[in-house]
Amino acid sequence: MIYLDNAATTWPKPDETISAMVDCIKNAGANPGRGGHQMSLAAGRIILETREELAGLFGVSDPLRIVLTGNATEAINLALKGFLKEGDHVITGSMEHNAVARPLNVLRLRRGVDVTEIRCAADGQVDPAEVRKAFRKNTSAVVMIHASNVTGTVMPVEEIGLMARENGAAFIVDTAQTAGLLDIDVNRLHIDMLAFAGHKSLYGPQGTGGLFIREGINLEPLKEGGTGSKSESLDQPDEIPDKFESGTPNTPGIAGLGAGIRYVKSRGLAEIWKHEQGLVTRFLDGLSQMRKIQIYGPDDPSKRVPVVSINVNGQDSSEIAFVLDRVFGIACRSGLHCAPSAHKTIGTLDRGTVRFSFSIFNTCDEVDRTLEALSQTIAELSR
Ligand SMILES: Cc1ncc(COP(=O)(O)O)c(C=O)c1O
Repeated sequence: MIYLDNAATTWPKPDETISAMVDCIKNAGANPGRGGHQMSLAAGRIILETREELAGLFGVSDPLRIVLTGNATEAINLALKGFLKEGDHVITGSMEHNAVARPLNVLRLRRGVDVTEIRCAADGQVDPAEVRKAFRKNTSAVVMIHASNVTGTVMPVEEIGLMARENGAAFIVDTAQTAGLLDIDVNRLHIDMLAFAGHKSLYGPQGTGGLFIREGINLEPLKEGGTGSKSESLDQPDEIPDKFESGTPNTPGIAGLGAGIRYVKSRGLAEIWKHEQGLVTRFLDGLSQMRKIQIYGPDDPSKRVPVVSINVNGQDSSEIAFVLDRVFGIACRSGLHCAPSAHKTIGTLDRGTVRFSFSIFNTCDEVDRTLEALSQTIAELSR
């Protein structure tokens, strides 16, 4: 099988991720932070170590400011619903995933939050000048995808982050497609809240993600409950991360995430980026030799994460993905990739796209076999 659906979740995972999870269940399977016994303390240590890995990766000085969640969606919901109040204005872009667009829509309907969506260009790029024009007196946040899961387009977050800072607005970034791939430093990029998925380029398991919250940003929690701290009180603890982490955490998953990040660090972001850029360049070159194919996103591979969306003239995207899977054993994704407004932006709302996305485990040979399979599929379907 050739797995090219890494933008949804990476597969395979490094052996280190799997071993850490098995080891955690076998040897540290107690409830962290809920007991004074040794196994509970060992579980707590695993969680702290993962927070430290994450903090190191994102340039965060205090690991306790990283809140662990079940996925990027939960982290984004916490950031948006915890922060935005009635009467607030928020700026966003048209390439956002539903993880951002849907909570914003709920806030618009239920709290009267005013949302300005900046229309991005046909290659997915946002124009910072348009963002600058959108600020108002009551703009309290800018929320933006770091890179699109439809076109791979990398957004100018440093420039927009500075704009948000200058205008006194919080800068919230969805790094689901970039954490573990691009060099992210929350201070350099002026990020106030950073949401990440643990199960994509950080090579952790599904059920992991989190949110960095800068000191001084006050959020309401999404949930209240047991935290293992201040148990005598009915009030939710005010300390981070306990305030936002009620309930037993996914300790084995978090152990796997820690190991995934260590794997990423051992390979090095630069090496991973070089490898995946090589695959994308090879794939784009091959596609450009084929007739009838429309490629979306930036022409310059260095301006995109390893995500390539295409359409074939006159063909249904799901039919192509179906044949690639059933006949050639190639896993990719078709249709709308949870981002309707992104599809509107690139003109594919009616039929979606066929999306191929790569990880450190893909090879040039897999790219070549996919190009060959695609060309056979197109020939077959055009008959
Ligand atoms: C850009 C983007 N944001 C958010 C998400 C949601 O991530 P999760 O599935 O971890 O909630 C995804 C997942 O595909 C994504 O690509």
